Amino acid sequence: MVPVPRYAAVKERLGAHPRTWLVTGVAGFIGSNLLETLLRLDQTVVGLDNFATGHRHNLEEVAEKVSPDQFARFTMIEGDIRDKPTCERAVQGVDFVLHQAALGSVPRSINDPLTSNSVNIDGFLTMLVAAHNAGVRRFVYAASSSTYGDHEALPKVEAVIGRPLSPYAVTKYVNELYADVFGKLYGIETVGLRYFNVFGRRQDPNGPYAAVIPRWISAAIQGLPIEIFGDGENSRDFCYVENAVQANLLAATVDKAGAANQIYNVAVGERTSLNQLVAYIREALSPLHSHVTDVVPQYKPPRKGDVLHSLADIGKARRLLGYEPSHTLRQGLLAIAEWYSAAEQRREHI
Ligand SMILES: NC(=O)c1ccc[n+]([C@@H]2O[C@H](COP(=O)([O-])OP(=O)(O)OC[C@H]3O[C@@H](n4cnc5c(N)ncnc54)[C@H](O)[C@@H]3O)[C@@H](O)[C@H]2O)c1
Repeated sequence: MVPVPRYAAVKERLGAHPRTWLVTGVAGFIGSNLLETLLRLDQTVVGLDNFATGHRHNLEEVAEKVSPDQFARFTMIEGDIRDKPTCERAVQGVDFVLHQAALGSVPRSINDPLTSNSVNIDGFLTMLVAAHNAGVRRFVYAASSSTYGDHEALPKVEAVIGRPLSPYAVTKYVNELYADVFGKLYGIETVGLRYFNVFGRRQDPNGPYAAVIPRWISAAIQGLPIEIFGDGENSRDFCYVENAVQANLLAATVDKAGAANQIYNVAVGERTSLNQLVAYIREALSPLHSHVTDVVPQYKPPRKGDVLHSLADIGKARRLLGYEPSHTLRQGLLAIAEWYSAAEQRREHI
């Protein structure tokens, strides 16, 4: 793990002067990791989620990982980000919003563009209006690397994007446009974090829209083939969730001139092909499950809407936020192997 001086200073300051945070999508993968970190820092957290893709067991796991006193600082609101009164209630007395709630997955948005549009755009706008009206200090939101669309140049720099390749990418780009307009018209401070393939504990391995890393880890532990869409030479900048959590806390608290009302890439700045990823997963899991060394990829036709290659330039986040990824892909995979192994064992016993 790489030490990150600005992050350490921010955590120390928050510990000394706790704030109130709203985490939307709190029962989901990234939201529950944000919750865990904030509660460990003795912050007060309001969570909003309708459990569309998030799980109560994620919140129960957080409760086990923090002290009872810390968990007592958490208030859960079960509700929909498209519901104005719910959003208005959720932002009351909040300093910082970390807006994670959305329907993820490119294939989901291709199969059901109306629902992705409604949650990701109407829901985003409803939250943004509520946050502005309540006078929150800053609205940090989950943007996406899918916004780079068909632009082929690598590495991706924030100012140069292509045309979206999926309804999901459209919704995430519209979020950025609304945040920008709200900054100009109403003076609200926003920060958009373009996440690049985030992975880590509590990312759901199940269902048709599961992300590649938890899906493959789960398949490998079960001795099932790893399905690769395409020839495996597609590449991604895989980002361990601790790096995304760091980016959120830095984005919410940074006071450097010009750092707010910006978009930042959140990634590691390293490109890994899917074939290489299979090798790393084998390496991380084989000490726990020796049969994983025999697991082979099964190649399938490429999927519509997927970008071929993705690699972030993280220079802007480094310069303006003081961001420095603490974990590489391999370090992140080694850190989560045991968790997924235990999760698979629990599943077998259900
Ligand atoms: N995981 C990634 O690699 C990645 C990459 C780019 C962007 N993102 C974005 O990051 C955010 C978090 O993603 P995640 O991977 O944690 O996904 P997730 O599905 O685990 O979490 C999303 C959460 O939002 C909740 N939610 C969905 N619709 C809602 C609604 N209408 N009202 C209230 N809550 C609702 C879900 O129940 C879930 O708990 C999303 O905005 C996603 O688009 C994720």
